[in-house]
Order: sequence, then structure tokens, then C-alpha cells
Amino acid sequence: TLAASYVSLLATAGMEAELYTVPDGEEAQQLGVVEDVYDFLNGGGFTRDDLIVGVGGGALTDVAGFVGGTYLRGVPVMYVATTLIAAVDAAIGGKTGVNVGGKNLAGVFAHPEAVLIDIDIIDQLPLELKREGAAEALKTGFIEDLAIVEAYERDGLDVDLDEIVNRSVAVKVAVVNDDFKERGRRAILNYGHTVGHAIETTTGRSHAESVSIGTVAAGAASRAMFDFTGEERQRAVLREVGLPISASDADAGAVRAQMDRDKKRDSEGLRMVLLQDFGIPELVHANDATVRAAFEGIGLA
Ligand SMILES: NC(=O)c1ccc[n+]([C@@H]2O[C@H](COP(=O)([O-])OP(=O)(O)OC[C@H]3O[C@@H](n4cnc5c(N)ncnc54)[C@H](O)[C@@H]3O)[C@@H](O)[C@H]2O)c1
Ligand SMILES: [Zn+2]
Repeated sequence: TLAASYVSLLATAGMEAELYTVPDGEEAQQLGVVEDVYDFLNGGGFTRDDLIVGVGGGALTDVAGFVGGTYLRGVPVMYVATTLIAAVDAAIGGKTGVNVGGKNLAGVFAHPEAVLIDIDIIDQLPLELKREGAAEALKTGFIEDLAIVEAYERDGLDVDLDEIVNRSVAVKVAVVNDDFKERGRRAILNYGHTVGHAIETTTGRSHAESVSIGTVAAGAASRAMFDFTGEERQRAVLREVGLPISASDADAGAVRAQMDRDKKRDSEGLRMVLLQDFGIPELVHANDATVRAAFEGIGLA
């Protein structure tokens, strides 16, 4: 595995490294897995002078970060981001988490010491993982950097991923530096995620596909509220890279109920990030008309 090759690399450099493998993907984001890692660290006599190196996609970096943020009240972690989602989004910004009943309901804010993104690895990803990463990269493009959108419009999934990663990381770092604990501006990174998370939970679609659909929904709501004119452009580029733009197969009542459950976690009611224009996001309170427009935009009757 990739992780094993990093262990030998560290050994070659004269460092002591031990490999621990967690279950694949979302299966890793469980407290039981976290406890197993704690046991492993206990057994190996891990101290604050040691370093956890989390090698993998967004699910892996979320768990590794959670372990790093909690073990011994915080030990150093670095990530090697091996998927495009991890490179453009999950590994950056210090949000970590595991699933307890709901997605990421337990977590800590904790920055890694460093994030390593090897573009050769990202370049060689299977098409499906490039497509999934495009959903979060395009989200970043819509809210803050239209050059990302233009690149995908021009080259589809053959885009220059070096440029996409650099631009996405730059946006995320700037926003997170402004507002680490999401008291305000950081919320713009949740564009497409209000409806997206509800789609993800109720349909079991992947995070990226759900975010793609959620982005289309947010675009439609943005037209209704702000006369946003970019709705069709969003749809076209998401369709072009092969991401879903409709949820006509989902159950509107279930999606709405899930959004209300998510909203209860926020005393200020249901909120959505909408666009006045590309690059001008605004966090708004979503009323029923806004939600209806969002649902109509993705064929949810
Ligand atoms: N913390 C954050 O701010 C944040 C932001 C965005 C997404 N996320 C989370 O990230 C997750 C989605 O990211 P993801 O898709 O990277 O998750 P993932 O870790 O589940 O990876 C997806 C799949 O790709 C495989 N994989 C990893 N590297 C590979 C490689 N180089 N080649 C081939 N296959 C490889 C993994 O084994 C896994 O099966 C979600 O859980 C989402 O909630 C977190
Ligand atoms: Zn996301």
C-alpha cells in the first residue's frame, strides 16, 4: 500500500515508523476504530514527541485528525492526502470527526502540522475519484474562484490538477484563517451542503455526489432569492464532469425532515449559503419558499 511505502521511506531516513491500518473509507469514522488506534498508540508507547502520519482520503484524514486532536489531549499529526477530495478540502482547515448517530457529530478542531499532497498520486487517481473531487473543487470555484470553474469547463476531468489543488487550497486556507471555528465567514464553504448533507443521509449517495446535487439546489434557491444568473452554468459544468444534478429519485419529505433535524443543531434555524453572483456568497435564513425553489431545482417534488 501507499502507507507502507511511506513507512519504508521514513525508515530509510533513519526514523522509526510503525504501520497501523484502519478499515476503508467511512467504515473508519467510528469511535470503535478510534479506540483501537488509541490501544495501538498505548501499546507502542507513543508520546507527544512522536508524530501520527495519516495517509489516505478524507475519511482517513478526518479520523487521524480526531485521534491526533484527542489522544493525550492532542499530539502532532500530519496528513498525506491521497484523494482529490482530501487534497482540495478534507485535509485542509482542521475539521476532524467521526460518525455517532449522524455524520461527523463528534469531532474537534485541530490543525495538522503539515499536509503533503503528491500531485503524481492525485494525477493517477481513478476517474471516479477525480469526478468526486471535482464536486468540492467546483463548490470552491463557485463561491470564491471562478478560474476553477473555467478550468473544468475547458478541460473536463482532464484539468490541470496541480492548478485545481493549489487554487482550492488557497481559498480554503484564506477562509479558515479568517474564521477557524466557523463563527461566520467559514460557513460559505458549506455551499451546497445544507441540501447535500440531507441527500447524503437519506439516500446513501456519496458525499461528493450529494454535494453536487446540493450545489444545484443552492443555485436554484439563489436565483429565487437574489436573481442569481449562474444557475445553468453550474448545472452545465457539473453535468460535463459526470456529476449528478438531480435528485428526482429521492423522497422530498425525507430530505426536508433531515434538513430540519440538522437545523435543530443550530439555534438560529435553517440556514443556507446562497450566491448573489459567483464569488459573492451570503449566509441566509432559508424560508419555505427558498427551500421549495431549491427542491424544484433538483426535481424534488
Ligand atoms: N474535514 C473536512 O473538512 C472535510 C471536507 C470534505 C470532505 N470530508 C470528508 O471526506 C470524505 C470523502 O473524502 P474521500 O472520498 O477522499 O474519502 P475516503 O477516505 O473514503 O476515500 C474514498 C476511497 O478512495 C480510496 N483511496 C484513497 N486514496 C486512493 C488512491 N490514491 N487511489 C485509489 N483509491 C484511493 C479509499 O480507500 C476509499 O475507498 C467524507 O467522509 C467527507 O465527509 C471532510
Ligand atoms: Zn463537503
